[in-house]
Amino acid sequence: MMDLSFVLNGNAVACSCTPGRRLLDLLREEFALTGAKPGCEIGRCGACMVWLDDEPVNACLVMAWQLEGRRVTTIEALAAAPSSEPVRDALSRCGAVQCGYCSAGMVMTLTHLHLREPRPDAREAASLACGNLCRCTGYGGLKRTIDVLFGVAQEATVGRSASRR
Ligand code: FES
Ligand code: FES
Repeated sequence: MMDLSFVLNGNAVACSCTPGRRLLDLLREEFALTGAKPGCEIGRCGACMVWLDDEPVNACLVMAWQLEGRRVTTIEALAAAPSSEPVRDALSRCGAVQCGYCSAGMVMTLTHLHLREPRPDAREAASLACGNLCRCTGYGGLKRTIDVLFGVAQEATVGRSASRR
């Protein structure tokens, strides 16, 4: 067992656990934060996405021993933050939420991308959220969401491409 201290959604927290305990399990079982979902549990689907020191990570792949002194942000905090509002609004308006199981992970990923690079070019935009799977296969809605969120830059890119012809 190890004693662990880290910052969770802006609050200093501590617990005792085995070094190999997954962050996903710590969140859900020790801190009652169930927004990060267990999906594939091998780092492929993004349902468990959280931020670790402001970078998106799959919580099913992060172990307790990696957390000491780090900052973890989950959908419970981000969903209440103004920074995620454009993403949440676009997902909702574009019909990208069906059962909702993947939605928290999508918001974590897209908000990070939107903050970091709000105007990607069309090629970058096409690959956004490629680490997030939707088992309801709502990819049409996700594509529309990305178009709405990053659309201005895509139009500019298309315009630039057209003007070069
Ligand atoms: S449950 Fe973690 S990536 Fe799928
Ligand atoms: S909305 Fe159901 S898994 Fe994506």
